[in-house]
Amino acid sequence: MKSTIYYVLFVSLSLASTDFRWTPSETYVNTQEFDLKASMEKGKGVYQTLCASCHMAEGTGVNRVFPPLESSENLKDASYVAKTIKNGMSGPIKVKGVTYNSSMLAMNLSDQQISDVMNYIRNSWGNSYGPVQTKDLPELLKD
Ligand code: HEC
Repeated sequence: MKSTIYYVLFVSLSLASTDFRWTPSETYVNTQEFDLKASMEKGKGVYQTLCASCHMAEGTGVNRVFPPLESSENLKDASYVAKTIKNGMSGPIKVKGVTYNSSMLAMNLSDQQISDVMNYIRNSWGNSYGPVQTKDLPELLKD
């Protein structure tokens, strides 16, 4: 009798500590699906090496000198962002109500680096604009 009680107690405790949440992303892996997380992870490396010196590690920029990338609606336009990274930019832009009139040099990035860094900056720090793949770049870079 005593052992039955212990057994029931043991089983209920084990059940109580089991997490029954259904996690479809782990149980169903679609190999055709683009891995945004992996691309963002690589893009973070590119960003830290080539961009953070001006736009800062958390994308906050430097007020009136380097525009912030965090929570920025300008990053919604994938074509604009791709062209900026690929070709650089100069002239006045308005970011979150502040005008910047400076220039950013073109950096010699591969298509892979451009799409990875785009995925990172467009889906971090309050931005959520979805994935871009290398195969999208020719279309995005067209003028
Ligand atoms: C040497 C400093 C510097 C570096 C390094 C740099 N940028 Fe910039 N970036 C700027 C400046 C300055 C501007 C604004 C140019 C202007 O006023 O026309 C800018 C503008 C931008 C914009 C447009 C912002 C907007 O809201 O319209 C994006 C996007 C951007 N940079 C992304 C990047 C990425 C990604 C990298 C790294 C691959 C990078 N930048 C590296 C200085 C830099």
